[in-house]
Amino acid sequence: MPQWLEDAVFYEIYPQSFYDSNRDGIGDLPGIRQKLDYIRGLGCNALWINPCFDSPFKDGGYDIRDYKKVAPRYGTNGDLTALFEDAHKKGIRVLLDLVPGHTSEEHAWFQESRKASPNEFSNRYIWTDSWIYWGGENIRFIAGEAERNGVYIINFFKCQPALNYGFLNPKEGWQLPPDHPDCIATREALKDIIRFWLAGGCDGFRVDMADSLVKNDDHQKSGTSAVWRNIREMLDNEYPEAALVSEWSSPPLSLKAGFHSDFLLDHPGSGYQSLVRDYHLDAEGRPLQDNSFFKKSGNGDIGRFLNQYMPWYEETKERGLISLISGNHDTPRLSRSLSPEEAALFYGFLFTMPGVPFLYYGDEIGMRYLDLPGREGGYTRTGSRTPMQWNNGKNKGFSAAASGRLYLPVDPEAGAPSVEAQEKDPSSLLNTVKALLRLRRAEPDLQGRPNLEILHAWGRLFVYRRGPFIIALNPGEAPASVRIEALNGNSASGVYSLGGAKLENGLCEMGGQSFGIWRS
Ligand code: NOJ
Repeated sequence: MPQWLEDAVFYEIYPQSFYDSNRDGIGDLPGIRQKLDYIRGLGCNALWINPCFDSPFKDGGYDIRDYKKVAPRYGTNGDLTALFEDAHKKGIRVLLDLVPGHTSEEHAWFQESRKASPNEFSNRYIWTDSWIYWGGENIRFIAGEAERNGVYIINFFKCQPALNYGFLNPKEGWQLPPDHPDCIATREALKDIIRFWLAGGCDGFRVDMADSLVKNDDHQKSGTSAVWRNIREMLDNEYPEAALVSEWSSPPLSLKAGFHSDFLLDHPGSGYQSLVRDYHLDAEGRPLQDNSFFKKSGNGDIGRFLNQYMPWYEETKERGLISLISGNHDTPRLSRSLSPEEAALFYGFLFTMPGVPFLYYGDEIGMRYLDLPGREGGYTRTGSRTPMQWNNGKNKGFSAAASGRLYLPVDPEAGAPSVEAQEKDPSSLLNTVKALLRLRRAEPDLQGRPNLEILHAWGRLFVYRRGPFIIALNPGEAPASVRIEALNGNSASGVYSLGGAKLENGLCEMGGQSFGIWRS
């Protein structure tokens, strides 16, 4: 396990929308470099940048045409190297986005693979042996697109043919076993990409659809896990400081497969979703029946989160870390449901839980979700990908281009949150995030280490312990109190609070919408 992950706090950047340094209306790598001090000042010491590689951008860059080339819209490979160097000088690590399960249909491998004449790349993707094939087994096939006599499997959109890591139990002649030399060649090609960027100075990868490699895998994902364990072995030998964070949302499987950390995502019915995104939308796209735990008016219950989280945490705590997120480029913005006051309590929780937290750019100021037509395969995700709001000037400080040229429109509201305005306001969401991160970064007991102990989890009141720290939160409207037996009537000194939070002589009294940290 790379030691640095233990106190890492990540900031996720959607490069299209962070900062445009060359006035072409789209964010770029030199733009990120210019904002490194902001990121450091926020208290984040690591970055995850969404794919910034050459791509036709039919899925925001998750359709890669050349893994080893930075997309010209973001700059050059030299700009990325310069970003790694500057970031490292400031104590910031950088994860790139690794897309192992599919490429763009425009990737040179696919162009070769689709040819009728057999070649080195014929089995780099998964093809049937006849142009007539209607599918089955929950696998999606595309027919009628290639000169070779077969149809191919996709991993996500039509433009994203699945790379061939084999089938766990092949049932047809065209299904290769994972140890077939051509499937091993796919894995080795992936390693080559990993080595290329690690040698170039990156610190690891966020791994897209990490569970999607071997097809018809079993419930334990044994085929896919074997591929990752092999890659992890290579990393342990050659790049032991490199981190792998999976988009998998199943820590017991992913951490056993060799990932250092795994994201909990907002899958329907998941524990993570119950915290901040447990709502339906009305016809206008506004959240209805919001029962999220952090919603003041909801009657959400922390048990829905803990029932999933705690068994996973207990099972995996010696092996790796769990990553909780404020949101990401696929989820609705946090502020779609939570007010700034509600979001502040959520950040109190996010930044005092074990594991590796991820903050999505703009969530620190409560940027709004905008109802926009989709862009580059974003569909309803587009509203969470709008330009960062640096100030209230032209294009909210994102770009000096004419506003009609922007990658996506900025929030048109005059009073839309901005970094500049919130920096001046001591009680802003931005300053709350900074204060919480200062505390986390200063206290090893509030970082990644597995020292979580639940003291009280009933209805709206949640109290937990991390080493000497007692943390309590009550997102509901009504006050709530509980005696903390673990304190034996002893006092604890206040470290941080929001709203009316008190812990005296072992009695924890929480006003409506409050949060507190004490040292015992
Ligand atoms: C998950 C990524 O986060 C998402 O943005 C992308 O569309 C799919 N994987 C496909 O790569």
